[in-house]
Amino acid sequence: MKTAFVVYCSPAGSTRHVAEVIAASLKENSVTVHTLDLGTADDPAPFVDRLKTAGEGDCLFVGSPVYRDVAVPPVMAFLNQLPSVAGPTFVPFVTWGGATSGLALWQMGQALEGKGFRWREPPRCWEYTP
Ligand SMILES: Cc1cc2nc3c(=O)[nH]c(=O)nc-3n(C[C@H](O)[C@H](O)[C@H](O)COP(=O)(O)O)c2cc1C
Repeated sequence: MKTAFVVYCSPAGSTRHVAEVIAASLKENSVTVHTLDLGTADDPAPFVDRLKTAGEGDCLFVGSPVYRDVAVPPVMAFLNQLPSVAGPTFVPFVTWGGATSGLALWQMGQALEGKGFRWREPPRCWEYTP
């Protein structure tokens, strides 16, 4: 992976923390990382423009808290307005309150598959405890 894109929404900070751990780890491995926090007023256009040029093997990491079993609306709105792509992979990640990670990962995956992103292989599940 040469380039990674990390986008997240994190009203209370836990998902941001995981996003920062992911980004730092990728940078340590010489991956160029672009990040977007959907909770700020930052214009998402430059991030999306870069994402449109992503090549095969580049990866989009998408993070959301679980609210009532699903991803939060700003994350799904962002995914649903993405242009179609050919090549990049994706990794969804969530934080949750211990009740359930619910449908959020599946839901984010469905939206991204619909845009032409491919699940990053091999499928793995990490549980991160700070
Ligand atoms: C309105 C609301 C709904 C939530 N629904 C769930 C849920 O269905 N299942 C669960 O395990 N945690 C639930 N949580 C807990 C959050 O997913 C958890 O605290 C998450 O880490 C918050 O992420 P953030 O710190 O990035 O905002 C909910 C929290 C809030 C505020």
